[in-house]
Amino acid sequence: MITQESFGKTADGKEVLAFTLSDGASHVKILNLGGIVQSIVVPDRKGTPTDVALGYNTVKEYEQNDGYLGALIGRFGNRIGKGELTVEGKKYALYCNDRGNHLHGGKVGFNAKIWEHAIEGDTLVLTLFSPDGEENYPGNLKVTVKYSFQGGALKICYHAVSDKATAVNLTNHTYFNLSGEGDGSILDHELTIDSDLIVPTNETQIPEGGLRAVKGTPFDFNEAKPIGRDIGAKDIDLLRGNGYDHSFVLKAPKGEMKEYGSIQSPKTGIRMRCFTDMPAVQLYTGNGLSQQGKTAYYGKRAAFCLETGDIPNNVNVPEYAALGSSVLKAGEEYTHTCIYKFEA
Ligand code: BGC
Repeated sequence: MITQESFGKTADGKEVLAFTLSDGASHVKILNLGGIVQSIVVPDRKGTPTDVALGYNTVKEYEQNDGYLGALIGRFGNRIGKGELTVEGKKYALYCNDRGNHLHGGKVGFNAKIWEHAIEGDTLVLTLFSPDGEENYPGNLKVTVKYSFQGGALKICYHAVSDKATAVNLTNHTYFNLSGEGDGSILDHELTIDSDLIVPTNETQIPEGGLRAVKGTPFDFNEAKPIGRDIGAKDIDLLRGNGYDHSFVLKAPKGEMKEYGSIQSPKTGIRMRCFTDMPAVQLYTGNGLSQQGKTAYYGKRAAFCLETGDIPNNVNVPEYAALGSSVLKAGEEYTHTCIYKFEA
């Protein structure tokens, strides 16, 4: 069931709506502003409702939204080195908002837009039109994101089509804390990721080529391991990321739907199982968090993100594009599915 209420108004007077998707036992709240997942309330092992998504209580805080809490990210999730995009031989200079690089769609990304909405049964359908030249990206892009919540599973289906070749790498930037938002750090959470390779980066977190085997390194999550066990290791990639902030190449290829990992809080027993058809996932351990949230101050490592998609900067590295290219040709369909399933 989906219900709708007002969440407030933007600084320029636009109404922000909150949609509550309920499956009976649990519920998820989503805003038409940025398609933001504002809360995810699921029962813990004792049946106590627990909000596992970081967020804010007001539109004003979301308008600042330092860290992209809960938001849809586009056109391109994560970084493009120096904002240099070449599509079908043409060069485009994208806005650089992170140490000389393009991050999460640029100056005003999809996270900051009011999306059109429709409710189709148990599915919330959000649509956005991104005009040719927006943030310097080529092509008029029509984006649809469908959210549904059934049996404890939050499903996100992305679709996009452009009238010119462009680059698209959509994702969702929900910060999870399975002990409950505001309940301290996620370093005790036990994580598995079905991946043998991570993507190393330069000093400004741009992947420039090469893959690194995780075996024998702090990046091996093939067996469940607390996030905090190795996060402090003196490892070049961990130091550059200020913790985990890396793309993990999943064993199953792009286009194949798979359960690629899971993560559990020992405190609440809440487990999140993760599924996608994308080739990679960015594990980000909230290394830059430092803000007041819904019920508490969110400090460093107060949450983690698992952002499914293509490998960052693949538009400039053919080796990465071979695993999944973010170039979308005119008229071609971009699709991406991601599921977070909660159990306790
Ligand atoms: C990136 C981080 C970045 C964070 C917030 C994550 O997706 O991987 O490097 O700091 O988003 O912007």
